[in-house]
Parts: sequence; structure tokens; C-alpha cells
Amino acid sequence: MSEENQKTDVVAALPPLSTDLDWPDDLTPFDPFDVGIQTSPYAHYRWMRANAPVIRAGNSDAPLYIVSRFADVTAALRNAAVFLSQPPGAVVPPGFLLSLDAPDHPRLRQMASKAFTPRAVQEFTPRIAELIAKRWNVVLQNGGGEVMGLFASPLTISVISTLLGVPVEHSAQMRDWTTKILDYVAILLRGVPGGADDAAYVALTSYIGNVLDAASDSQADNVVSNLARLRASGELTAEEASGFAALIFMAGHETTTLLTGNCLDFLSHNPVWLPFLRTEKGAAAFLNEMLRYRPPVHRLSRFVGEDTVLGGYRLPAGASVRLLVASANRDDTAFPDGDTFDPARSNAAHAAFGYGPHMCMGSWLARLEVRLILERIGATVSDMKPDPTIETEALTGGAFATVGLKNLGLSVTPLRNVT
Ligand code: HEM
Repeated sequence: MSEENQKTDVVAALPPLSTDLDWPDDLTPFDPFDVGIQTSPYAHYRWMRANAPVIRAGNSDAPLYIVSRFADVTAALRNAAVFLSQPPGAVVPPGFLLSLDAPDHPRLRQMASKAFTPRAVQEFTPRIAELIAKRWNVVLQNGGGEVMGLFASPLTISVISTLLGVPVEHSAQMRDWTTKILDYVAILLRGVPGGADDAAYVALTSYIGNVLDAASDSQADNVVSNLARLRASGELTAEEASGFAALIFMAGHETTTLLTGNCLDFLSHNPVWLPFLRTEKGAAAFLNEMLRYRPPVHRLSRFVGEDTVLGGYRLPAGASVRLLVASANRDDTAFPDGDTFDPARSNAAHAAFGYGPHMCMGSWLARLEVRLILERIGATVSDMKPDPTIETEALTGGAFATVGLKNLGLSVTPLRNVT
């Protein structure tokens, strides 16, 4: 058979079912909802990339097509006309860019980008550094503790609150609403009729509406004033402006918290890297490699809008696809020796923030915040190790297919000159 014919045969075939594959003895068939696999998925990812780069898994009535290679994952993310973000039949809350397609997505994204600019975020750098120092000092004075609850989670919500003009003392309330909204939005997007409790969404968006009202005369170039102006000019409706602000809380809080936890966990097992964090360049390189090596978001969902071919297989219109960005980030063809953590590698193009038209809008905020955290750790810590007296617990079933830690117990030794 000619190579061309072989290719055609493969294209005609459906991807293999996960449960029909000849998995090695130490791996159960890949199932994205299996909690054990979610917490430790990299051996599965490696095997799939090498042996079955597109598979069918999940419920056999509604199969999910799982894609694991860098080239296929990024090709699908770039092709937003075919790989859609809006689940069929779903109600998308106003301003919720993540789950919108053209023509609404590009229009709203353009508007939102006018408000959420790198410059508008940059302005907050000293304030973010101050929030980090204040919270990290508590960890230092304690000699460690459960750092997700003590440090990472309250910090990231207070940074987003500050950026959106919400007083820090209200950030615990914002976190409570944000957590509840994640459930509400997940139910809406699944198209479940009724049943979704919108109280937290209404409370958060009306709170933000008041913040925007208060900023309506401001000429400042910050996120809140920019959103207030877009709302006043009618370029964004009031619902879209508040809805976009709610999305920033949702998309930015858990992701940045988990990335911070991944960095801390890694450092506690590899404290040899601590001195590397003492320069801005070292901290930035460490962070970029951590995003590749242990990204907080593992899978992105897409819905096939028309019959298409991906990775040599035919995917039917209506198919539900999971693009494994965390697997793509370990693909040796894009990142030689991909399972090795190496901040010296050139990996600017990793997929931790996605690819294509939906690529993360908050990546500079996340990078700025976590780099400042790492620099603070480099400047204040001489040793860090796991604290076995505090339970370390994995987070599973995160709202955005996130993987990371819910609790992390650390013992932290300050540098001698740090009070
Ligand atoms: C380490 C932290 C973060 C990670 C790993 C991350 C990851 C991602 C990824 C993978 C996407 C693409 C989703 C898709 O294609 O379906 C995305 C989109 C988005 N992210 Fe982030 N994110 C992070 C932090 C943030 C922060 C701090 C904000 C804002 C404060 C933010 C706001 C957004 C928004 C608004 C979108 C939607 C963009 C669109 O659909 O056009 N993210 N993020």
C-alpha cells in the first residue's frame, strides 16, 4: 500500500477506544474523570503521545476525543472556526469570553483587551509586591504552615480584587462568591435546564456594577476606569462589563493559586533551586519552566463544529474534544527531554496559557504576580521542605480542568538576615 493510501485509511478510521488499547500493566485505561489519573497523569500522557495520540474515552454514549500531542493540540486551539468553545445548547453568561465563539468572541475580546491592558496591570506592581510581602511574612514568622490557605489563595484573590478596585477587606467575600459562581457557570454551560442558583453571580456582578459606577468619572488608565468608560460609551453593555469582571475573578483566582502551590511544592522537594530565584531573570525562567512542566490547567474543551480531521483521525461534527495542554507541554518533539525540569531551555511557546484566539488574557498578571512571589521567596528563604504533620491534599475536579494542590504543608527556614 502506498504511503498516501495508508494515510487515507487512517483518516477514515475512528480513533481507538481507550478501553480497547493495550495499555502497559501499570496504567489503567485513560479516563479524564478518574481522580487517580488526574492527580498523577504524566505516565498516561507519555504513553498516549507515543502510542495513541487521539483516543475516545469517557461515556460511550457521549464519547470524548482526547488529544495529547503538541502539534495536534495547538492546531485545534488555533482553528477556532472548527473547534468551538461554546458547548452546544449552553447558555453563556454575558461577557464570559471563554465559552463564546465568533462573532461575539472577537468583538468582546477586543473590547475587554482595551480595559485589561498590560499597562493597566503594570501600574499595580508596587501594590502587588506589598500584598505578597505582607502575606509571605506571616508564613516566615510561622516557620511555614498550610500555605495554600495561609498564603496562595488569599493572596491571589486580593490581587485581583485590588486590580478591580475592590477593597482588600472584601476579598474574602469575593472569593466566596467566585467559588459559588464556578458551580453556577458549570451548570449553565452544561445546558442543564433550571437548577442553577445564580445568587452569587447576581451578588458579585452587582457589586462590580457599583464599583464601575464609582469609577465612571475617572480618567485613570486602570482596569476599572477603562471598563467604566467602555460601559458608558455603550461599547460594552452593563451586563458584559460586570460579567467580564466576574470572569477575571473566575479565570484568575484558582489558576494562579494552583501555580503558586505547584512552585512551592516543587521548591520544597528541590530547595537547591532557591538561590536561582534571587534575580528577576532566574525567577522568570523558573516560572516559565514551571508553567510548562506543571501547568495548573490540564485540559481545554472544544466542540467540533463541522466534520474535520485531527492527528490523522476523522472527528465528526458535534464531537466533544479534550485537548491535553499539560501533555502537549511535555512533548519531546516540541520540548526535547520534555519530562525534565530545566529553566535554561527555550520554551516560550508552551501551551499553559492556551493558543490561538482564546489564549489567556491574564497571562502577564499571572506571570508578574508569581515572579514577584518567587523573588520574595528567593530573597527570604534559606530552606523549605514538606511538613509531614500537615496533610497535603490534591485538588481534583477543578472548574477549569485544573490540577494542583488544595492543601500543602511546608516547613520554611528564613534567611538569617530576614526578620
Ligand atoms: C497561572 C495562571 C493562569 C493560567 C495557567 C491560565 C490559563 C488559561 C488558559 C489555558 C486559557 C485558554 C482557555 C481556552 O482556550 O479555552 C485562559 C483564558 C483566559 N484567562 Fe487565564 N490563566 C491564568 C491566569 C489568568 C488570570 C490571572 C486572569 C485574569 C485576571 C486570566 C484571565 C483569562 C481570561 C479572561 C481568559 C479567556 C480568554 C478568551 O476566551 O478569549 N487568566 N487562561
